Amino acid sequence: MSKKEFFREMGRTALTFDDVRLQTGYSRVPPQQVNLESKFSRNIPLKIPLVSAAMDTVTEYQMAIALAMEGGLGILHRNLSKKEQAKQVARVKNRLNALNGLKDKPITVQEEMTIEQILQMKHRKDFHFDSFPVLDENRKLVGILTGNDFDLCDDYTLTAKAVMKTDLITVPTGTPFEKAYELMKKESKKAIPIINKTGELVGLYVHKDLKAIKDGTAKKYNVDNKGNLRVGAAVGVGEDAFERCELLLQKGVDVIVIDTAHSDTLSAIQTVEELKRKYSVDLVVGNISQPESARRLINAGADGIKVGQGGGSICTTRVVSGYGRPQVTAIYCCAELARQFDIPVCADGGLRYSGDIPIAIGAGAHSVMMGKLFAGTDEAPEDIIYYQGRQWKKFRGMGSMSAMRESKGSRDRYNQSEKEEDLVPEGVDTLVPYKGSLHATIVQHLGGLRSGMGAVGAANIEELQQKADFDRITQSGQTESHPHDVHIIEEAPNYSPGR
Ligand code: XMP
Repeated sequence: MSKKEFFREMGRTALTFDDVRLQTGYSRVPPQQVNLESKFSRNIPLKIPLVSAAMDTVTEYQMAIALAMEGGLGILHRNLSKKEQAKQVARVKNRLNALNGLKDKPITVQEEMTIEQILQMKHRKDFHFDSFPVLDENRKLVGILTGNDFDLCDDYTLTAKAVMKTDLITVPTGTPFEKAYELMKKESKKAIPIINKTGELVGLYVHKDLKAIKDGTAKKYNVDNKGNLRVGAAVGVGEDAFERCELLLQKGVDVIVIDTAHSDTLSAIQTVEELKRKYSVDLVVGNISQPESARRLINAGADGIKVGQGGGSICTTRVVSGYGRPQVTAIYCCAELARQFDIPVCADGGLRYSGDIPIAIGAGAHSVMMGKLFAGTDEAPEDIIYYQGRQWKKFRGMGSMSAMRESKGSRDRYNQSEKEEDLVPEGVDTLVPYKGSLHATIVQHLGGLRSGMGAVGAANIEELQQKADFDRITQSGQTESHPHDVHIIEEAPNYSPGR
């Protein structure tokens, strides 16, 4: 039975991840060799089909940088002020250049700053690097501070001038990165400033970035055609969208996500039309769960559709408001429609295990957006909390009481009033176990996806969308799918019961 017949037979019964499993077939595809490239929207490619949720406990610039370096895409949330959101776009875009390794806006310090002031700035601005070119009052390069200078300094009242290295190795503008890399090795330098003819600092080569280009690691980064990491940002509708877009585009944002709980509305459609008239940027619009909603948004100009209503781990929309649609059926129906227009679909929310990724894509999605599965990583914004002997990170719904209380972005997403006593939350505040690095989490997610693709015989994302067929499973089938009748004695990195 084809997927089409399967869903036709299901009629009005809407299914979600736990209700189905992929059927296996003859496969000539080793999981290690599958191609995971996909698209988030018409013009925004992905090297892996993973996108991080525009949630304030999930995606700020650290997550966006780390995920783009894995090949995916982060969507900066809209509880950030307009200015801060645009600043964070700039931080992602300026993080590195994967084509020529050049940092053309290096962070510098003044020679009269004390080491203490520099360390405080580093902490305040969350800079995770130690190489700072030092400038004099005429903004001329006079030295450089590196990790060793900070580590070996035991008097933080000393100025940069007193501690910095002045035996500078510099290269002139236009020096290719290969040459700079060789020079770094020869001179044992981790950073080499680039100066112009008049001695002004115009850029910096950093060893780590050049090494990633040399050893091929940078090939997996999701970068724009200038070599900068890709990043998306969430906006609301109406004024909020127009004001944010202007600032975000100035900083080079790659894709705008119009982010509301229900997007098949007059205001969202008018916002899409207006933004498409003004700008040439890709717009992904969501969330929806019905194919006719997808049609209206695509007709208005959407370059991508985001599907998911009430399925998120922290959502209470379905129980508070009574609407929403189980995710596999929602993805399938919207993707069938969007396919006619060649518009990618992102499946947003509700994924609990890595096995839900091939199911979402098998149902027709081009990418999956995840909140909970990325919350708890080092790159998620919150600090680690110690509670009942374990490490956790805070994770909350954008429609939770605390998020709405604190932020207009959250109140707007759920059409709420400004008065606290009138707030009606559609999400909850939670803790999730601390998970370590995003990279380690992604290894598990992609391992699961590859394994699923191999078993279906799909060599790439498009083949998975086409070849995937589903079985409807029963409650006992679901019980059988999980470890059963055993006592787990060692936690697996990709499984815990009742996640
Ligand atoms: P997961 O399951 O990956 O879901 O954690 C993330 C997605 O959930 C949506 N979201 C919410 N939905 N109330 C809702 O009904 C909320 O408070 C809320 N916060 C986030 C959002 O689409 C996100 O990407």
